[in-house]
Amino acid sequence: MCGIIAYTGSKEASSILIDGLHRLEYRGYDSAGIALVHRKRIRCWKAAGKISMLEQGLPETTPGHCGIGHTRWATHGAPTDANAHPHTDTDLRIAVAHNGIIENADSLRAQLIAQGVTFSSETDSEVLAHLLAAYDGSLIDAMRTVLPKVQGTYGLAAIDRNAPDTIVVARLGSPVILGIGENEMLAASDMSALARHTQEIVHLDDGEVAELSPRGFHVTTMDARPSQKSSTQLSGALADYDKGGYAHYLHREIRDQVEVVQRTLSGRLDLRFSTAHLGGLNLAPRDLLNTRRIKILGCGSAYYAGMAGAHMIEGLARLPVSAEPAAEFRYRNPVVEPETLYIVASQSGETFDTLAALREIRRKGGFVLGIVNSVGSTIAREVDGGIYMHAGPEVSVASTKAYTSMLTVFSLLALMLGRLRDVSPQRGSTLVAALQELPDKVGETLALEDSIAAIAPTLIKAHSAFFLGRTASYPVALEGAQKLKEISYIHAEAYPASELKHGPLALISSTTPCIVLLPDDELLTKSLTSLEEIRTRGAPIISLTDSNHPRIHELSDQLITLPAVSTLLQPIVAGIALQLLAYHCALLLERDIDQPRNLAKSVTVE
Ligand code: F6R
Repeated sequence: MCGIIAYTGSKEASSILIDGLHRLEYRGYDSAGIALVHRKRIRCWKAAGKISMLEQGLPETTPGHCGIGHTRWATHGAPTDANAHPHTDTDLRIAVAHNGIIENADSLRAQLIAQGVTFSSETDSEVLAHLLAAYDGSLIDAMRTVLPKVQGTYGLAAIDRNAPDTIVVARLGSPVILGIGENEMLAASDMSALARHTQEIVHLDDGEVAELSPRGFHVTTMDARPSQKSSTQLSGALADYDKGGYAHYLHREIRDQVEVVQRTLSGRLDLRFSTAHLGGLNLAPRDLLNTRRIKILGCGSAYYAGMAGAHMIEGLARLPVSAEPAAEFRYRNPVVEPETLYIVASQSGETFDTLAALREIRRKGGFVLGIVNSVGSTIAREVDGGIYMHAGPEVSVASTKAYTSMLTVFSLLALMLGRLRDVSPQRGSTLVAALQELPDKVGETLALEDSIAAIAPTLIKAHSAFFLGRTASYPVALEGAQKLKEISYIHAEAYPASELKHGPLALISSTTPCIVLLPDDELLTKSLTSLEEIRTRGAPIISLTDSNHPRIHELSDQLITLPAVSTLLQPIVAGIALQLLAYHCALLLERDIDQPRNLAKSVTVE
């Protein structure tokens, strides 16, 4: 969502902050700002719109070696210059950049107004600047005094004109990462903003506050007890944060998927026992044998990946497995059972609802495994065991390579659990061989790009499209519709094809293209009946199949012929083809592909 960057050192802070904001822009981008301390004075520049708007408004020189910056994704108050962060107190002593939500902002604001404070924005965050400025001591003491009065979540960075080389950062529910440089310190809400400057990072934990200066950093708890922190290396190379010659991060991330899948599989296929080897689960085979049920939780595309994963695991391990949106799960006072294995899936490892579900399960005594991409993220640190995806940094707001990598992890988990229960060594070795071939199959799917791009001109004429698939293909349909909606803004709905005649068929007409997933499996003949029903209503049909059944060719207007893969892996290749379709529609419609309107990556608020 919103992004924070902070710098103190010997370099000009403004260019580092602006570069950091560009790296963070994908998280939230309706306004941005920076504040610098120079000669015991705070100066602040803010602008609604893209970072380029902020840059245009900056004077030729912006001196200062210490400062904070913020990109905003509006929650409280419209995206205006005034509502952009950093926020300052009336005397410009303190400037604050805040991610999260202050739930008791209204009452704090009323108290401050009663004391004569004038507000210059509609945001909840501005109260922090006034509260901190009302305290006479050091900024860190002010933080420790003020933050216990604040209800809600925060990742925040503040500067004080009275301590011109010091930044104070604090965290409760919204990530803050410290970057250790040579005679300089940085802090950011996301590793992407630090990668250019340092590889050595420290994750702040909830309830911690840190003081940064060019001489180093000091972390304590809110009640001033020192916290022992050790640094880790940043995951991913600097080049992973670039477009790599592509016009869009999303395109690069789609095209990178051969290597992504290779990395996710790397070292995890056990040829000797025809299974998958997954270190880090913290579960003995006996614990896994005693598991009666699996529940997978995630949000958005991670939830859809979880649905697909549920099919994979249930199919091979013969255990009841279901997936549920993390936010819905946690608010329905769920029954947490000791014999259920809970899995949370998250690319960022910071999604608020997924994190809250994880905490609720653990509070009730449940065991939670994480499938996470971002190394060292909050979810990765709080789970009982986990599997890293190794997809590399995903910059584009819409998930592609991380979704594919998540599915790959689920297929490994399904193989491993299957081999503990129902899958014979012979079948196991066939599945291992299929997984070994997966990167090639991904490559073959990517090679279809031109023919998939040729379908886009027809699809973009539609106001609405339907994505249809049955059983394991239904989550693929959901994710395909999601990708099209997100980046092309074409309305799309996904249904199991079997559900059509129970309602949605009323909407099928010559103006509603239907994208139909037709894997060559035991349901193919049944799906063909649905295809006939659609054809009768005159809807254009785009079929994705690895079957050469003649009726598919006869009934389809456009055909995407997918490489033949094991049924287990079919959702992976079909998903990639649908990513390409959505991308080419968005490209023709000249959408803001990497930063779709109203969306932000890593939703760290509720
Ligand atoms: C869609 C998309 C989102 C995320 C969701 C969960 O393309 O990216 O739906 O999948 O916000 O994010 P993570 O996986 O970071 O928890």
